[in-house]
Amino acid sequence: MVTLGIETSCDETAAAVVNAGRALSNVVSSSVPLHEKYGGVIPEIASRFHIEYINKVTKKALKKAGKRLKNLELIAVTEGPGLPGSLIAGKAYAAALAYSLGIPQMPVNHLTAHLFANFVAGKPSSPRFPFVGAVVSGGHTNIFICRSFRDFELIGRTRDDAIGEALDKVAKIMGIGYPGGPAIEKYAGRFAKKSPFNFPRAYLEKDSFDFSLSGIKTAVFYYVKSARLSRGEISRISWSFQEAVFDVLTERLVRACRKFGLKKIVLGGGVISNKRLRAKLGSACGRIGLKLFYPPRALCLDNAAMVAGLGEALYQNRSRG
Ligand code: KG4
Ligand code: ZN
Repeated sequence: MVTLGIETSCDETAAAVVNAGRALSNVVSSSVPLHEKYGGVIPEIASRFHIEYINKVTKKALKKAGKRLKNLELIAVTEGPGLPGSLIAGKAYAAALAYSLGIPQMPVNHLTAHLFANFVAGKPSSPRFPFVGAVVSGGHTNIFICRSFRDFELIGRTRDDAIGEALDKVAKIMGIGYPGGPAIEKYAGRFAKKSPFNFPRAYLEKDSFDFSLSGIKTAVFYYVKSARLSRGEISRISWSFQEAVFDVLTERLVRACRKFGLKKIVLGGGVISNKRLRAKLGSACGRIGLKLFYPPRALCLDNAAMVAGLGEALYQNRSRG
């Protein structure tokens, strides 16, 4: 089915065309540079950006896919979770377009779509249900037991900041730019691995799959306040922060597989583009025979190909419940 996907849940305005699970185009226009000086997303700026760019981005996605409006058979749109003003911009656009073309709409959950990115990738080895799924982004740090795309059981989430959000805030504390994840990854890569900090790892209650990032964030804040922040010191903090946070995530995911008797971990969300995290999870899984799946970088970050792909799959299987 020729499906147009629309994604406007946060600060990326995205449109993509998917047909039979394959992305024909995937266009993203980001308002990130407009938020940079604030060190975080300003919702009003993001929603105005969506209104201004959604039509241009859609036209570009159609052109790249070699399709015209009249070829569209379905419109998939992110219905949430996300920033209310941003979501409304995409949903109103999708509704108007679907109505004017006389074609159906399929609302899609943003978190499910992040995991569906693993199926759009068109790799021969897309994961099969059931699996442990984790969405690790700026807005969420959620662990699910996934039995189908309509059956996600939430078993763990953050009690305060999402991992991406904590990376963004720590980067802001150190004054190294926004978004923080890529900036911290870059500095961490330059660390000589000599005397890293042992930042606190919040493992919480013995059986919990939840996360808490506020303690480690405060530890960085007080350290930065008291230190002379050279480039070397920023690299040391970046490396040590990544290690502490990624260790907890790795422990949670491996334990979830053990507890629920599952052999696969499927990842999605912007933080999953981090190479150190992929390597850490890859070696932990390799040691105990778990299979790890993650999308290519462009499909980790917010995009509309994951939305179109999931919308198409849900629409085609809608009678199966
Ligand atoms: O999935 P996403 O594009 O948007 C949300 O749904 O939130 O994720 C954005 C988040 C930001 O917090 C950003 O700092 C983080 O993903 N991120 C990274 C990397 N690239 C983006 N975190 C760690 N390493 C990266 N390379
Ligand atoms: Zn996202």
